[in-house]
Amino acid sequence: MFKINKERLLAHLFALGKTGLDAEGQRTRACASDTEKEGRDLVSGWMREAGLKVVVDRIGNIHGIWETPENQGQKPLMLGSHIDTVINAGQYDGCYGVLAALEIIQSLREAGAATARPLVVTAWTNEEGIRYSPDMMGSLVYAGGMKCDDALATVGVDGTVLGEELRRIGYAGTVEPGFLKPYAFVELHIEQGPIMDAEGYAIGAVEDLQGISWQKITIEGVQNHAGTTPTSYRIDAGVAAAKVITYMRQRCLLPGSRTVCTTGCIAFEPNAINVIPSKAVFTVDVRNPNEEKLREEEKALADYLAELEKTDKVKITTERLSRFEPVLFDEGIVTLVEKYAKKRGLRCRRMTSGAGQDAQMLARICPTAMIFVPSVNGISHNPREFTKEEDLLAGAEVFLDVVVEMSEAK
Ligand code: GLV
Ligand code: MN
Ligand code: MN
Repeated sequence: MFKINKERLLAHLFALGKTGLDAEGQRTRACASDTEKEGRDLVSGWMREAGLKVVVDRIGNIHGIWETPENQGQKPLMLGSHIDTVINAGQYDGCYGVLAALEIIQSLREAGAATARPLVVTAWTNEEGIRYSPDMMGSLVYAGGMKCDDALATVGVDGTVLGEELRRIGYAGTVEPGFLKPYAFVELHIEQGPIMDAEGYAIGAVEDLQGISWQKITIEGVQNHAGTTPTSYRIDAGVAAAKVITYMRQRCLLPGSRTVCTTGCIAFEPNAINVIPSKAVFTVDVRNPNEEKLREEEKALADYLAELEKTDKVKITTERLSRFEPVLFDEGIVTLVEKYAKKRGLRCRRMTSGAGQDAQMLARICPTAMIFVPSVNGISHNPREFTKEEDLLAGAEVFLDVVVEMSEAK
């Protein structure tokens, strides 16, 4: 029976968590930034220490490959997640999945295991999408869903170009994404929601993932004086933006709705206390596990914007930033997760991933599934994100069992 080195896994996780901290102690590793480079250097260094061959592809995905003369030429079992973060992030999102995968491969290698197929741990580029859209970009390109050159030409929210930034930090590889054809892909991740913690489950067997629609909306009104302009004379971009946000929340609250909607970015122009905004630019992130329902939400939003142009006399334009349909994961792998959770005496339930994940892109090209562990109080994308050590280790052990079976490790 194979084992992982629990102390090493936790030491890696907490060391990576210390990178990207600013003077206030806030952790941000935006894709291809200086702070993300620190994280990349650490993780690729650990991959080398583990005896893996490190290959960086053109979109900057870092692959740690373990193959032996006996299994060379077989399709690899790919594992992994991401190490880029949101702004002021926690230390588990993505990193746990990459480092647990590394730990499993390292432990199997050290134990002298023979596997029927190569094992690969990948840290995918730009999963979070806070600097460059779309999110899950590295895995999307890898799976053939976006041309690598188009992705590299993406201009970020700070005006930088992804390809130039990857070159600057030393992570613009030469190998074409997709160069390894996966036998399957498995990703371990924290739940990032409240369900498992509230219901007392240790393992989530993730069977599907909800669809995601991202848009940028620009509303143009008329800049005017805050004191002298009677309400009926105003063409107020700020109020129109507020109406859109409220309208979408009301849709989410309709009986039986599983839609969630977020406006996480908003900017007014000229952004002054005594000036009616001439412009409001904001994002809308809408999600639903059902494609038809997600389309209904998009249509409802479009209809509402058209209505608002008439009622509020504003001008509205929209830009699509990202759109991914819901994904169904591989039933065989989901069943394996359930089997090994049960074997270890861990309470397990089937889950839908509310978050976007690299696994959803890999699912386009190979059998794929995910394993979740609980997030205390369901907090994520927040420095208070927390998973108990016992849950981190239990998740890594179930992951190990699944990898051992799928790679036929002996
Ligand atoms: C990724 O974290 C997402 O779901 O936005
Ligand atoms: Mn993540
Ligand atoms: Mn995230």
